[in-house]
Order: sequence, then structure tokens, then C-alpha cells
Amino acid sequence: AKDYCVLGIESSCDETGVALVQVTDQRLPVLLAHALYSQIEMHQAYGGVVPELASRDHIRRVLPLTTEVMSASGKSLSDVDVVAFTRGPGLAGALLVGAGVACALGAALGKPVLGVHHLEGHLLSPFLSNDPPEFPFVALLVSGGHTQLMRVDGVGCYQVLGETIDDAAGEAFDKSAKLLGLGYPGGSALSELAEMGNSAAYKLPRPLLHSGDLDFSFAGLKTAVMVQAKKCAMAQGCAVEALPHVVLADLASSTQAAIVEVLVKKSLAALMRTQLKRLVVAGGVGANRDLRAQLNAECKKRQVCVHYPELHLCTDNGAMIAMAAAMRLQSGIQIPSEVYAFDVKPR
Ligand code: KG4
Ligand code: ZN
Repeated sequence: AKDYCVLGIESSCDETGVALVQVTDQRLPVLLAHALYSQIEMHQAYGGVVPELASRDHIRRVLPLTTEVMSASGKSLSDVDVVAFTRGPGLAGALLVGAGVACALGAALGKPVLGVHHLEGHLLSPFLSNDPPEFPFVALLVSGGHTQLMRVDGVGCYQVLGETIDDAAGEAFDKSAKLLGLGYPGGSALSELAEMGNSAAYKLPRPLLHSGDLDFSFAGLKTAVMVQAKKCAMAQGCAVEALPHVVLADLASSTQAAIVEVLVKKSLAALMRTQLKRLVVAGGVGANRDLRAQLNAECKKRQVCVHYPELHLCTDNGAMIAMAAAMRLQSGIQIPSEVYAFDVKPR
């Protein structure tokens, strides 16, 4: 088979991402160029993502980003052989922008279009790193919307071992950060503050830690953080956001420790259960330094290899969508050749 190029478009939430990967016969697909625009600043004023604004901004960004990717890659649109886009899950209006543009490009170029599952993008994103994993592996998928442990035997061979029954890990970070006055999305701000605090300062619950299964629950933790923060505020006679920096840092550190401990212990349990010696961590929370440090240490003890996406590819991006499509194509899936009546799957 000859080499071919896959253009990937991501627009499921608040980042517009476009990327071009090249697929060759034997090796892993290669990332030629990618471009990303984050809307986070725009949504910050509202304390969360405003779907309507997100859709409108994707429309503004997606074509300029595509132009940027094409010129950075030294290719032209006529070199694109397949157009991939995020089909879901995500915000319906936001997804429709990527789907619409991908299908229009496909129609204009006379090339097939492929919808990709957003989580498969995250899952396969470590294959873009300098230290790509080999199948099979256990995957810990921790993003703002999802928390899952999976057994992955190959492209398209995914078995869910456990997942959250309520909030996602990233949601737990974000909601705790918000109530500590750290803005939105506060995951990375909370983790930075946590590094200055004492993780044993407050006793917070580790939900489902001993449940014997591989499921997660983070909704109760968020409530416990709120109760603890209010107690501290009452003792100091101030509002939560006005708490002294050291107290906030201790709260942040204790919160992070609770989330990370559950994620680490359940990942180790999944490795035990599957008897696999390889762990892949993907999704925005995979950027968390404390999580990485603890997983690295625990896995080293057990002779388990851990793989991460590169830091800048942990959160949403176009590269992972192009990569997932490319790996699917390499694994032999067929794309229907008729004109794509495009749709999205928000859930
Ligand atoms: O994968 P992602 O970009 O979005 C979804 O598909 O949901 O992940 C975003 C999530 C947010 O909840 C964000 O707060 C969290 O990842 N996040 C972090 C860190 N960086 C991003 N959480 C903890 N520590 C970090 N360093
Ligand atoms: Zn994501």
C-alpha cells in the first residue's frame, strides 16, 4: 500500500484542533503538523464552557488552523487522502462544526470522511510519543468528562474494566478548584497550588477505594472538600476564597492526594486482575505531576511499563483524532464510500 495522509479535526468541547498524519505501510503513523486553539480564556468569565460560544468560536478557528497545518506540513489539501473528525462524545453544536467542515472538505476533495470516537483519540494518543506502547495494555483514561479503566488488546479491541459512576476525575479537580476560588478549568491550578501544601492536612474520603471492583466515584469527594473548606473559612472568619494561601494549599494538596490515591490503587488493581505489565495513561488529568510520579514509582516496583502522551497532547487536540483514524485505517477498517450524511454522537 502507498503512503497516505489523514487530516484530523477535533471540536468536541473548548479546543479546536487540526492535524495531519502520514500513514506508511509498516511503522506507526507519523505526525506531520498540528495546530490548536484553546477557548479556555473566553469561557473563564462564565466559570465554565458556554456551548453556544464554543460552537461559534470553532467556526472562527477551524479553517485558519487547517491552513496553518497544511503550510506547516509542507503539504497541500490535494495531498489529503482521508478526513477524520471527532464524532462524539461532546457538545452537539461544537461537534457539528468539525463534522460539517470535515464532510465539506471530503466532498470538495472527493475523499472519504471518517468519524472518530473522542475517547479512542485520547486512548491512542500515547502512540504519538517517542516511547509508544505495545499491545496489550491497561489504559487509565482520565479526562474532564470520563474516567475509565480499559483492557486494550489492539486497535478497536477495547474492554471496559471499570468506570466512574458519577463525576469524572477531571471534574473532581475542576469542581474542587472552583470552590477554592481557583477559576475554571482549575485542574492544573489546583495541582500547582497542591505542590505547596501538605497532603495530610485534611482527611478526605477515598470513594470506592475498597469496593473490590474497578469503578470510581468522585461526587462525594467534591462535597467533602466543600464541607472542609467551609469549616476552615468559619474558623478563620472569612470566605473560602479569602482563606490564607497556606490553608488553600493544604486543601488543594489533600484533595489531589485523595483523587490520585484512588486512581493509582485502581490502576494497580486493574494490572493485577489482567496480569498485564503495561499501563497507558491518557486524558487531561494524565498531565498531573503527582499522578505521574506515583504511578511511575508503583509501576517500577512491579516491573510495569507506564506510557503517557506527551504533555501537550494530554488535553484535547487534533493530533490524537488524526492518529486514531490513521491507526484504524492501518488496522484494515473500510470507510463507506458513499457521501457521508454527517451526524454526531454527543453522548
Ligand atoms: O482530556 P481533556 O482535555 O478534556 C476532556 O476530554 O474532558 O481533559 C481536561 C481535564 C480538565 O478537567 C482539567 O482540569 C484536567 O483535565 N487537567 C488536570 C491537569 N491538567 C488538566 N487535572 C489535574 N492536573 C493537571 N495538571
Ligand atoms: Zn478529551
